[in-house]
Amino acid sequence: MARVVVTRRLPDGGLDPLVAAGHEVVARDDDTPFTHDELCAAARESDAIVCLLTDRIDADVLDAGVAGGRLRVVANVAVGYDNIDVRAAAERGIAVTNTPGVLDETTADLAFLLILGAARLASDAERDLRTGVWDGWEITEYLGVDVHGATLGIVGFGRIGQAVARRASGFGMQVRHHTRRDTGIPGWTDDLDGLCAASDFVSLHTPLTDETRHLIDARRLALMKPTAVLVNTARGPVVDEAALADALHEGRLFAAGIDVYEREPEVHPRLLTAPRAMLLPHLGSASVATRVRMAHLACEGALAVLAGTTPPNLVHP
Ligand code: GLV
Repeated sequence: MARVVVTRRLPDGGLDPLVAAGHEVVARDDDTPFTHDELCAAARESDAIVCLLTDRIDADVLDAGVAGGRLRVVANVAVGYDNIDVRAAAERGIAVTNTPGVLDETTADLAFLLILGAARLASDAERDLRTGVWDGWEITEYLGVDVHGATLGIVGFGRIGQAVARRASGFGMQVRHHTRRDTGIPGWTDDLDGLCAASDFVSLHTPLTDETRHLIDARRLALMKPTAVLVNTARGPVVDEAALADALHEGRLFAAGIDVYEREPEVHPRLLTAPRAMLLPHLGSASVATRVRMAHLACEGALAVLAGTTPPNLVHP
């Protein structure tokens, strides 16, 4: 029987696979994150850690795992794993798993919500209605841009990017995509600058890596049309948040739909006050069914490593 520490309260039933396998599951019963010291203690005293994207699993935590002599796997309940030093884990012989595949459609739904909501100024309009600012229908008020028929540039064309593309075709959008390597799929371009300049909507679906940090910076924002909309459901640091706020305030970009931030839970103060921004609190995968599926997949990854097999969701540095 292995000891598995779970760093946060998970959706009901999320830990069932671990419990059914008969492991000792030490689950936090609230939503307060572990401190760095608590993460180190957990690593020292367990065979597996099930953690969230808000837990920073760095070399110190992994060293504590090595010192404890037990830790074999860190199972992230997220598809993105930029919170984990995967290279340091590999060097220490500790496996890392993530949750690919089970959240694609839910996250693509959210990206489409932001495409539609930002384009049609839904946030600003709803705020006006709730605060009593709206004083009746005006022919010149809340004029957005059309989604149907527009050109959508998708940056990063993995499972989620492709799920967004499927939705876009239902709206009659022209879809192009950019990845570093040719996907062989019609619409691919290696020219990100060109994609930014030509698109009415740019939607980001890349993982956060050294190469994608500030991929959308002031220069690329300046290439975008003043009528364009930027959507980010990937990771906050893929966009230079201060530059985005400036572009919105100065009317150089029409609107933005943002779900992820550079320093969560902080949001750049100028982005908070920016016009035509639909801002959501990192909820891309947040449906009941998907969050349970993510928890189960994380458990399955941990179980496979504990059983001495290679899980399909093993992350490689
Ligand atoms: C959510 O952001 C995830 O990476 O799963």
